[in-house]
Amino acid sequence: MTLVLKSNKSGIARAATILQDGGLVAFGTETVYGLGGDATNADAVAAIFAAKARPHFNPLICHYPEADAAFRHVAADERARRLADALWPGPLTMILPRRADCPVALLASAGLDTLATRVPDHMVALALLRAVGRPVAGPSANRSGKISPTTARHVLDGLDGRIAAVLDSGPCPVGVESTVLDLTGRTAVLLRPGGTVVEAIETIIGPVARAASPTAAHLSGGLRSPGMLMSHYAPSLPVRLNAHIVEANEALLAFGPPLTGAAITFQLSASASPTEAAARLFDGLRQLDVQGQRAGFHGIAVMPVPDAGLGHAINDRLRRAAAPRD
Ligand code: TXA
Ligand code: MG
Repeated sequence: MTLVLKSNKSGIARAATILQDGGLVAFGTETVYGLGGDATNADAVAAIFAAKARPHFNPLICHYPEADAAFRHVAADERARRLADALWPGPLTMILPRRADCPVALLASAGLDTLATRVPDHMVALALLRAVGRPVAGPSANRSGKISPTTARHVLDGLDGRIAAVLDSGPCPVGVESTVLDLTGRTAVLLRPGGTVVEAIETIIGPVARAASPTAAHLSGGLRSPGMLMSHYAPSLPVRLNAHIVEANEALLAFGPPLTGAAITFQLSASASPTEAAARLFDGLRQLDVQGQRAGFHGIAVMPVPDAGLGHAINDRLRRAAAPRD
């Protein structure tokens, strides 16, 4: 049985003790719930992969309570320091070279000599990280290939009984994962669009290169970021993008004034706000998947979302949800 801990003082203290003892605790951040384990404990890191049933050892993001703590474990250059000053705490993950004395388990880096680091913008997560006193490795707290969780309920749907506890801090305000930026080369490379819009990064460090599209990378076999696998965030029902009509046997994921004729609709944002839509995206996909299957529907139709600002991250996740499954 997985314990559900309240996000008060004693719940946070309990979660910290479990983590220090090598147990797994899912915790809310501003983006999605993370599946936390002590990053300096290789057994705990291995247990994360087992709980998620991840087929490969994908490298994991390490969470820190502040930039100084992160930069004791990775080598931060001028760009990383400026980005941390401006955008941490926040939904930005920076890939940087591990320092020689970095205590984070090598398994968390999946054999790479780099480490993904981030400082989440969430009071409860920060309190937890301070209490643990060690970096916490945390992929999204879902079974591999499934939709990322934005509530404690979502976490339990996938992982109940597989992890020690979930620290319930309510729904995640941003709702899509962090932006992943590779700073190990001369040119900064966007590996995953996310909660920090790339324009905000470019204002601070200049032009950022876009990694080859996941499809292209997948085909060439040269994945820079193993998490860029094309089919990901997948509901059980097929997903059809850019729908301008809705068919009789489809549930509708609406953005703005909804298409007419859908028997089951989830509204991402009636006012067509990308920020509101991001926060509701994964919950909407889950709800339509459950309700659509119950109704015997054949798929989910998704209305177009403009590809600007957070819409970039939303469309990235929607394309993966709609991609052919392996
Ligand atoms: O918002 C988020 O980032 C959430 C919360 C919990 O912090 N975490 C998250 O973790 O989304 P995960 O494991 O689902 O995604 C991490 C991504 C993956 O695409 C992974 O391949 C990439 O970051 N990544 C991690 N370490 C890397 C590294 N050293 N080099 C390249 N990519 C890396
Ligand atoms: Mg994930």
